[in-house]
Amino acid sequence: MPVRIVVGAQYGDEGKGKMVDYLSQQADLIVRFQGGDNAGHTVVNAQGAFKLHLIPCGIFEPQCSVLIGTGTVVNPNELLKEMSQLADAGVDLSRLYVSEKAVILMPYHVEKDQLSEAGKSSIGTTKRGIGPAYADKALRLAFRFEDLLDEGSWAERIDRVLPLINAPLVAMGGTPVEAKEIIDWFREWQKHLAPRIVHPLALVHRALEEKKSLVFEGQLGAMKDLDWGIYPYVTSSHPVAAYACVSSGIPIRAVTDILGVAKAFSSAVGAGPFPTEMDEEFAAQFRGTGREVDDEFGARTGRARRLGWLDLPVLRHAALVNGFTELAVLKMDKLDDFECIQVCEGYELDGVRLQWLPKTSDLWRVKPIYRSMPGWKTSTRNIRKISDLPAEARAYLRVIEQAVGVPVRYVGVGPEREQLAI
Ligand code: GDP
Ligand code: IMO
Ligand code: MG
Repeated sequence: MPVRIVVGAQYGDEGKGKMVDYLSQQADLIVRFQGGDNAGHTVVNAQGAFKLHLIPCGIFEPQCSVLIGTGTVVNPNELLKEMSQLADAGVDLSRLYVSEKAVILMPYHVEKDQLSEAGKSSIGTTKRGIGPAYADKALRLAFRFEDLLDEGSWAERIDRVLPLINAPLVAMGGTPVEAKEIIDWFREWQKHLAPRIVHPLALVHRALEEKKSLVFEGQLGAMKDLDWGIYPYVTSSHPVAAYACVSSGIPIRAVTDILGVAKAFSSAVGAGPFPTEMDEEFAAQFRGTGREVDDEFGARTGRARRLGWLDLPVLRHAALVNGFTELAVLKMDKLDDFECIQVCEGYELDGVRLQWLPKTSDLWRVKPIYRSMPGWKTSTRNIRKISDLPAEARAYLRVIEQAVGVPVRYVGVGPEREQLAI
């Protein structure tokens, strides 16, 4: 059975949620492997339209268990809020689990993120506390979900780490945290979440042994990877396929498929270089008003997304660092009305054609080299087979396949689960 990793091939918001929801129909276990509630994964299926932040997109399928994995940072208040929203919509949450080794994202992480974003070093984060939570994990000051199960350890551990948590918080202008507050939060979270906290290896390795079908759900995209993205305008984790193995404690050789999810054009939220970014007037053609589920506004923060033509150097870079075995190209239908479509085939820097993505400071300066392709000027929304797409759309996909060296297996033609050409 497939063991598949699903990751973003651009700057996030490529449509990973839609693909994981689609694949979950044939899956037994979905694992979210990094990030936190900075994610906004849109799912539109028979149960409704949802923007999921922490809960894996397989939650809608009765045979599918879902695990919030070890490499994530989880704000329990946000998790409880999302659980109650899904429960209100009639979604069964009985198969939702949290790794005991996942980091608890604390209220003071959110405060730190907000304080640092208010200053000169702002990079346009989601202000959800993601960077500070991963920083505390690396500093070994974080609490993990396993701590909630071990009340006897609370007082001593809090006593040891609290001065190191409060010193930078106060220096930034924040309010120091008291031990009692933390204990109150822990009691509350323990009450609601304890039954869902599991040893992740028991779940994941049993599924592997039983040859079940697994999907590892990534968050964001390669361009915002802490090492391989546009540092420092990146997130604080690794949205690349290899991290699914680290986070889930599985051998690399267990993986059978790596699906890169790309939009048929480019979008990004937050600061940083974006070589194919279009002017506002042009972007407005894609963006919509925010009323439709697939309008181009951040699913987490509601910010208007920056938009641009498809950038093949970005896709090639993502394919290199991830090792995609297949591609999904979503939102093809958003190109339906264009007379002419531009594709960035490469970059020039100071008159020299580049082979690799350059360092961030140079990426601001590169000149995209565009190829112009004819549009198809017809609706693709009801097409369900790639071979039935208009010839111009197939030519567009061929250009992607040739540039990236990976076959396109799925083409998105609308926001709904069924709106996929295969
Ligand atoms: P994710 O973070 O990668 O899961 O992506 P988001 O949910 O943040 O953003 C993707 C957006 O595109 C959402 O609004 C989806 O409803 C929408 N979407 C996904 N696939 C398609 C598609 O093939 N066509 C259209 N029109 N919208 C799509
Ligand atoms: P999904 O999973 C798009 C961006 C932020 C900022 C940078 C760092 O829905 O694709 P962070 O809060 O992570 O410290 O912010 O990353 N960002 C996203 N952009 N989609 C997301 O998630 C994002 N998660 C973070 O805008 O530029
Ligand atoms: Mg998103």
